[in-house]
Amino acid sequence: MSSRILAIETSCDETAVAVVERGRRIVADVVASQVALHAPTGGIVPEVAARAHLRWMIPVLEEARSLAGIEAWSSLAGVAVTHGPGLAGSLLVGITMARTLAWVHGLPLVPVNHLEGHIYAAWLLDADEPDRPEPPFPLVALVVSGGHTFIVEMRGHLEYRLLGQTVDDAAGEAFDKVGRLLGLPYPGGPAIMRAAASATRHDRRFPRAWLRGTDDLSFSGLKTAARRAVLTELEGRHGTTGEPDGARLAPETVAELAWGFQDSVVDVLATKTLRAAERCGARSIVIGGGVAANAVLRERIGEGARSLGVPLIVPRPALCTDNAAMIGAAAWHRWRAGARAGGDLDARPSLKLAV
Ligand code: KG4
Ligand code: ZN
Repeated sequence: MSSRILAIETSCDETAVAVVERGRRIVADVVASQVALHAPTGGIVPEVAARAHLRWMIPVLEEARSLAGIEAWSSLAGVAVTHGPGLAGSLLVGITMARTLAWVHGLPLVPVNHLEGHIYAAWLLDADEPDRPEPPFPLVALVVSGGHTFIVEMRGHLEYRLLGQTVDDAAGEAFDKVGRLLGLPYPGGPAIMRAAASATRHDRRFPRAWLRGTDDLSFSGLKTAARRAVLTELEGRHGTTGEPDGARLAPETVAELAWGFQDSVVDVLATKTLRAAERCGARSIVIGGGVAANAVLRERIGEGARSLGVPLIVPRPALCTDNAAMIGAAAWHRWRAGARAGGDLDARPSLKLAV
């Protein structure tokens, strides 16, 4: 019986198609990134993103199909697609493609939540990677992306219990906003990580919102703190008004501020995730989403996991940011559980993972 799923992901600003076997082995993984397209505006313009998906959908599909050597569509177990959460127009392009493929080729259509995709990226194996055990349950997963930040407990496949979430901005959103304040290029996450790595002084301290007694997180205060710090640097006083122009900062100052900001975000994310894992008796910790590509975050949670004696499973950076292989991994479990969508599958921009 066929065990390959073709998966499509277009929820935000990457047009992606992958073929994944048994929810683990990547057979093909193609991602067309729109980063360069959105850089001049310093953020995603939804209409621009949707039009770019329209332009790239078929070339990306064809490349993935050819890389996977798919001659007959009947060799697939199904077609999976992200149906939310995300930008309505962007989601619609992938959903329409998937619905059409499933209908034309008589294949099951499997809807996948983008956020569970980020978790299931931890199950993926590269084409040439030796086999390794699956993350054991119960596990605690931290999802940190541009639009979402939350911690869930999983006691089995597709079982999510929400432990905590951001009460305001997502961690990636904070990286992007503070990146802009520091005059760094879009997206802010990788730029801040690079700038922070070049800092020679490590004494800038940004606030931490601990929200004690909960697994919830908060990052909106960091933007205000960063704005104040930039104004103070530029004007030599405790300025609180006006928009600072980070491009006027000295590179060393940018590096120090980037380090202080990243240190705060990483400290809170790592501490909260590790505490939740300990409390739940987790047998593994999984992290996913764009911010999980951050080397300092990976390192910090890795150290903590070692002292708890549990494995940390974190996908390589390109599988942390948006891709379709992660959708193919989650889809395998949905497919086995009998999840099927009809030709009326629609975009769910605010779809939740767990409540
Ligand atoms: O998961 P993702 O690709 O898209 C969403 O579903 O949102 O996450 C994108 C986010 C952006 O905010 C980006 O700045 C952040 O992930 N990001 C990083 C790094 N690489 C990407 N943040 C911190 N450090 C990184 N190395
Ligand atoms: Zn994402």
